[in-house]
Amino acid sequence: IPVSPFDYVVFGATGDLTQRKLLPALYQRFRDSQIPESSRIIGASRSHMPVEEFRERARDALKSFVPATEIDEAKLAGFLDHLFYVAVDALGDEGWNDLKAMLEERPDRIRPYYLATAPDLYGAICRNLDRYGLISAQSRVVLEKPIGKDLKSARAINDAVGAVFPESQIFRIDHYLGKETVQNLLALRFANTIFERLWNADVIDHVQITVAETVGVEGRGGYYDTSGALRDMVQNHILQLLCLTAMESPISLDANSVRDEKLKVLRALKPITAADVQSVTVRGQYAAGAVNGRPVESYQADLGSDAASRTETFVALKLEVRSGRWAGVPFYVRTGKRLPKKLSEIVVQFRASPFSIFPAESFGREPNRLVIRLQPEEGMKLEVMTKDPGPGGMRLRPTNLDISFEETFKQRYPDAYERLLMDVVRGNATLFMRRDEVEVAWAWADTLLKAWAERPEPPRPYAAGSWGPTASIALIERDGRTWHEEIG
Ligand code: BG6
Repeated sequence: IPVSPFDYVVFGATGDLTQRKLLPALYQRFRDSQIPESSRIIGASRSHMPVEEFRERARDALKSFVPATEIDEAKLAGFLDHLFYVAVDALGDEGWNDLKAMLEERPDRIRPYYLATAPDLYGAICRNLDRYGLISAQSRVVLEKPIGKDLKSARAINDAVGAVFPESQIFRIDHYLGKETVQNLLALRFANTIFERLWNADVIDHVQITVAETVGVEGRGGYYDTSGALRDMVQNHILQLLCLTAMESPISLDANSVRDEKLKVLRALKPITAADVQSVTVRGQYAAGAVNGRPVESYQADLGSDAASRTETFVALKLEVRSGRWAGVPFYVRTGKRLPKKLSEIVVQFRASPFSIFPAESFGREPNRLVIRLQPEEGMKLEVMTKDPGPGGMRLRPTNLDISFEETFKQRYPDAYERLLMDVVRGNATLFMRRDEVEVAWAWADTLLKAWAERPEPPRPYAAGSWGPTASIALIERDGRTWHEEIG
């Protein structure tokens, strides 16, 4: 859908997120002719630099973070011409009049303000936007995660932003919602009768959500050590995946209908209290090991500090959604850094066949599984039982009905930010989080964090390159089930 010319203001323009994700995403949209002529992308941050230097830095970032085959020199030069820069002090007065002068050249434009800064600056930036008269009905504000580190701090951010922007103009990003396969989950569930009719406790045995990463904390130790995997990945990305998997059909795809349904799932999530912590949660921290054959250091060494950290880099949980549809169906979720591969998937495991006409020795007894792969190699696969070919009698074995999206559609899969950045311009908030969602998710996370804090044990060590502490395997095997990766 074509959009009108816009002025995209990015605060935190010299930061990692802008260089790694936002500029590459905007470049890709430009390459696809989605950025109208005369639109401006205005970088704002504290350092003083001429616009030429900002463009030079952007060129370097694009060369590093966009695949070489997707760099077209003429397009790249055309894109850089759309970039502008203004030095602004989020906490003081400096630069705001310059920004105002620049924006007032085109007063009627759609004007997203993307806050890619530390969250403790969100309130100050919003107050200044208001003070300098930079907010109109055409403005929107985009908030990156983390929105707080608990319910209290999330509320403070939401209050400060909400004091100057109405909720309909606030776009809280969870980039997992922009991933193609996550949106495909909506298509799969609500455009295919075969799945939706089976999507309940009568037929489904359990659900697994895995978000595994090979990276460690890289240079982000300062942030990560005050966060940990529960805050960094579960409170947002994993709960959002769980919501889309578990929610009822929204009455339409408009933002509030979808968010109303997700909110009900979050409200139905059983809180994990001190009494359950031991049986349904596992916290781990990576020790030295090897990932993809390369030796890597421990989390503690990556942090480079002597004080023993108790922050978890791995979490596995058994969750319960208290609703008629899901009664008795566990949702096992796990995420971690320094695991053997980068892999995100949702696995819906159906109940095993209650009775078999096949002789015991021929019946593999594998239940059907639907595997929705978010990354890598986006796709879906349905594991079904089939007859082994040949005259040797009725022998069964599991086989995959497998769709790889890239092979099927033969086109580039856009990065999540490409979709989300343009949805902001269009004013479509369906794939963004509403205030109440974020806060209910924090309230749930706070209960678990509190329960963990009451326990004396540090996180369990796991060797980098393994699938986390063995307690994670025990968590699911106690219930007679296994994590999916073994089947591949
Ligand atoms: C971010 C987390 O939100 O998501 C990071 O802060 C994590 O710690 C990243 O690495 C994972 O995103 P993706 O898209 O690479 O799976």
